[in-house]
Amino acid sequence: MNKFAYSAFIAFLASIGTLVSVHALSSDDETDGASETRDITLDELAEHASAESCWKAIHGGVYDITDYVPDHPTEEEVILEWCGRESSEAWDNKSPGRPHSPGAERQLENYRIGDLVDDQGEPLSGDVEDTSADAERQDASPAASVSPAEDQRLHRAMLGQPMDGHYRGVFTDRGEIQVNITFDLRDGHLTDVNFRHLAYRGVDYLTLEEGDDLYPVMVQHRRITEWLEGEPLTTIFALYEPARVVDEVDGFSGATLRGAKVISAMRDGLNRGVYSWP
Ligand code: HEM
Repeated sequence: MNKFAYSAFIAFLASIGTLVSVHALSSDDETDGASETRDITLDELAEHASAESCWKAIHGGVYDITDYVPDHPTEEEVILEWCGRESSEAWDNKSPGRPHSPGAERQLENYRIGDLVDDQGEPLSGDVEDTSADAERQDASPAASVSPAEDQRLHRAMLGQPMDGHYRGVFTDRGEIQVNITFDLRDGHLTDVNFRHLAYRGVDYLTLEEGDDLYPVMVQHRRITEWLEGEPLTTIFALYEPARVVDEVDGFSGATLRGAKVISAMRDGLNRGVYSWP
């Protein structure tokens, strides 16, 4: 092969090589939408607010998660309500104060189609004020934002102080649930203290009627709950000496009561954590 033919052959091979790699790159782009992003405004985002086409803006990125919705580990409504909207707060608070995992973040990146911008094309990093008609509903949603009350709860939790909320706890002995108590905490004070169950050796105290032998003991327990109403949580420790709290009823003295069981059930509730929010 002469020199000219050899150079032409090499040039031919090189151009084939270039064509192959350009094709490979462009077909990569077709299959991997994540690498091709563009600017998207809130208005355009809002056009994709349904299960048929669900886009979300999260911390400056816009994601088309239509295909992912059926795979999300909750009822579809939980994430469908955020389609077409700026959703950073919801993303950061799956439940109040609990962000999505790093694994979820990696997954999210597969669905990136663009960057959120304002009408002038300036990037919007997230936490955009939602002016849509749904904004009010969004604010009312527990996952939407951390309200000052929520913030205070989280602070109390971080300090190891019990959070405001509704609690349920039990005292069990030898397989028998003897005390099941519910109460609310507000600013560290007790309200709505009630027995859901109160029993000893097979006797269900809550069903006792006036005239029953142990009826006065049930009355004394009711007095405990009345006495606790509005008191600071620390007051429960006074129940170690129930005579300080409950007077004699029909010959049964405060000493008959096992206030320690009530304390134990309440502390069980506190250990379990908030059962539901007020
Ligand atoms: C923006 C609205 C969204 C809300 C309100 C939301 C809410 C939730 C909730 C309530 C859970 C289950 C609770 C739990 O893990 O204990 C969850 C889990 C999860 N979500 Fe979402 N989600 C949203 C968007 C997304 C998106 C867009 C993706 C991914 C593309 C995603 C991926 C996941 C994954 C992988 C989990 C399993 C737990 C984890 O890895 O954090 N979510 N989400």
